Amino acid sequence: MVAIIGATGNTGRIVAGTLLGRGEKVRVVGRDARRLAPLVQKGAEAFVAEATDEAALAKAFAGARAVYLMIPPNLTSPDVRGYQERVSQAEARAVEKSGVEYAVMLSSIGGDKPDKTGPVVGLHVFEEKLNAIPRLNALYIRAGYFIENLLAQVGVIKNFGMVGGPLKPDLALPMIATRDIGAYAAEALLKLDFRGKSARELHGQRDLDYREATAVIGKAIGKPGLSYSQLPAWQLKTALTSMGMSANMADSLLEMSDALNSGYMRALEARSAANTTPTSIEQFVTGTFVPAFAGKAAGA
Ligand SMILES: NC(=O)c1ccc[n+]([C@@H]2O[C@H](COP(=O)([O-])OP(=O)(O)OC[C@H]3O[C@@H](n4cnc5c(N)ncnc54)[C@H](OP(=O)(O)O)[C@@H]3O)[C@@H](O)[C@H]2O)c1
Repeated sequence: MVAIIGATGNTGRIVAGTLLGRGEKVRVVGRDARRLAPLVQKGAEAFVAEATDEAALAKAFAGARAVYLMIPPNLTSPDVRGYQERVSQAEARAVEKSGVEYAVMLSSIGGDKPDKTGPVVGLHVFEEKLNAIPRLNALYIRAGYFIENLLAQVGVIKNFGMVGGPLKPDLALPMIATRDIGAYAAEALLKLDFRGKSARELHGQRDLDYREATAVIGKAIGKPGLSYSQLPAWQLKTALTSMGMSANMADSLLEMSDALNSGYMRALEARSAANTTPTSIEQFVTGTFVPAFAGKAAGA
């Protein structure tokens, strides 16, 4: 049996669906039984728990051979690092208590760095906590920049007629579709062929900068002249907090953007067949971005 944290989310639902489709027993963990119900209909066992609740997670992991771990994002937390610390502590201790043998944990490029990478510092610390569990076999998926981050631009395009963000226009990033991360994690959880502690970067189908991503989006939504602007931190912080994000989370994301722009936070592996995944930006834009753009009114 495999227990899955964040099972209703971008990567977790792919992990759960893939394992169920392959006949694996799955326990899906989330905060709300109603959101877990579609997975229960496919054969999963639901377990309602907060990711900060060590005792509940130890029960959720009891009897599992393997677990899928992550720190679910909390965009409104006034203390992002404190929240991440509570989650990673609870999950790591629950792994230890329950005696789970295998863990696949969703980390990020930059997971090697101890500081100055915003929310990714919490993923680095989580890796370290799992490293300290001697008999655990742990695989850290250091994923690239989620291509789904581009969905935040739907409203920006509607309202301002442009794509905007903190990253340099020509900064090439390994952009990856979350479904490809979920598929990779599911395969690892089926094969269980990793031993000791190891990290694996996933780079997506190709490296992309925001200029190229904007061109693909512009073409697909009938705005061939769409352009990207790198915006100043103060302007982005105002925009992010006005949408409900905590000031602390906005600062954390801007710190991560600085780390990406300077090259401090970057992929360490050379691109290879092993870290390249199938979904292209063209497929993402056609299958996900365009429907989201079509469904969202100006001002939304
Ligand atoms: N964005 C990027 O570019 C990027 C790149 C690399 C790595 N990452 C990392 O990827 C992770 C996010 O992965 P994802 O996109 O698959 O996750 P996600 O879709 O944002 O969320 C996963 C699920 O976690 C559950 N959840 C939220 N808060 C919870 C809590 N307090 N306790 C228990 N469950 C909770 C939610 O389900 P319910 O609402 O049903 O409970 C949610 O569906 C983060 O750790 C992030 O740092 C992100």
